[in-house]
Amino acid sequence: MSKDKLWGGRFTQPTDTFVEEFTASIDFDKRLYHQDIRGSVAHARMLGKQGIIPLEDVEQIVHGLQQILQQIESGNFDFSIALEDIHMNIEARLSAAIGEAGKRLHTGRSRNDQVALDIRLYLRDEITEITTYLDLLIDALLTQAEANLDTLMPGFTHLQTAQPILFAHHLMAYVEMFKRDKSRLEDCLKRVNVMPLGAGALAGTTFPIDREYVAEQLDFPAVTRNSLDSVSDRDFALEFLSDASIVMMHLSRFSEELIIWSTSAFQFIELSDGFCTGSSIMPQKKNPDVPELVRGKTGRVYGNLMALLTTMKSLPLAYNKDMQEDKEPLFDTIDTVKGSLKIFADMIREMRVNEISMRRAAGQGFSTATDVADYLVRRGLPFRDAHEAVGKAVAYCVENDMDITELSLAEWQLFSAKIDNDIFECITVEASVNARNVVGGTARERVWSEIQNVRAGK
Ligand code: ARG
Repeated sequence: MSKDKLWGGRFTQPTDTFVEEFTASIDFDKRLYHQDIRGSVAHARMLGKQGIIPLEDVEQIVHGLQQILQQIESGNFDFSIALEDIHMNIEARLSAAIGEAGKRLHTGRSRNDQVALDIRLYLRDEITEITTYLDLLIDALLTQAEANLDTLMPGFTHLQTAQPILFAHHLMAYVEMFKRDKSRLEDCLKRVNVMPLGAGALAGTTFPIDREYVAEQLDFPAVTRNSLDSVSDRDFALEFLSDASIVMMHLSRFSEELIIWSTSAFQFIELSDGFCTGSSIMPQKKNPDVPELVRGKTGRVYGNLMALLTTMKSLPLAYNKDMQEDKEPLFDTIDTVKGSLKIFADMIREMRVNEISMRRAAGQGFSTATDVADYLVRRGLPFRDAHEAVGKAVAYCVENDMDITELSLAEWQLFSAKIDNDIFECITVEASVNARNVVGGTARERVWSEIQNVRAGK
């Protein structure tokens, strides 16, 4: 049996069947088939150009690999566990199809630099795709923000009513987070986008290869500079997993808010039916399953980051088989983040906003108390004294079961003689919001101009 293996030369005993299953990665690394073939084509062309293998062989290799690609894509490729991983499955099939020439493909290359190349090629495309999903979500948020420039809501700290804000302003906070997520991923891409082939197993190769030519064919702006590091570095994957964890953390916070906002106690929003499910026992229920699941899936993405960090911890240089464990957490994270972003963009687009209950809540909980304090400061009172006076007014309201908007001028003046008739116009929810006219503030014109900035790509 070991005689059928591509590495069987020094073995006399067959591999135990369970060991074979245990060590194989083909079940999950077959998703790298496209990158593996693309990398092999570039490698073969370079070997031919350098005169390391005959040009006729290159033609046969390229043609053979293209056929294998078609077979895999049409579902006519039998993946074999005995052949361990995607690299050997493809190479063995190539040699079976074209003979001698196929057996020359692996010249000057090792699976160690080959797998590093495949993951980088794969991750690079996925990162680009994830950033386009982030763009879709940002666009959905901007569209809702534009539609809600006049929707008032309570802003919270400690989940207690703090000050009124625009719902658009709240949505734009998430736009900022997702923009940062995008820029983090774009930055990570710089370190993913480096070409490792040529490192061989660990020390480089004796053949006169042209690494820049391989990089050029595969659109890499740079090649790695140390062969040991090239085959043992997974920082780029860890970086991606941390960036992905931060994306999920943002989605999870947003999920939590959507869940709270759709309770009957809040009634700020309604998620469309397509994103909710019912209960098998309680007929009235409409459960926000999608945000709950996204919140839940955040846990598995954090877990994937911890898994790979732990796998990499203490590994001596250079390649170790432990590193085969990099793929499942990486693939699972890519699928989870893409799915979560895609479903979120659609859900936000279709979300219905209940302006009336938001507006009602915005005026409750003495949300404009700070505006009275600011009013007194404008009349010369030090802020601490103003704070104290308004605090007493609030206590008076609580005791008499009324809102500060219900106090008469005479009552106001019990707390400060500086208060005049114009207090009434400055404690409305609208006035409170529009008074916060600073860069980054919730005043309508500020929020509007931030939306314009993001729309303009700033
Ligand atoms: N399947 C392996 C992995 O994913 C490929 C590299 C194997 N190299 C080796 N020397 N066994 O890591």
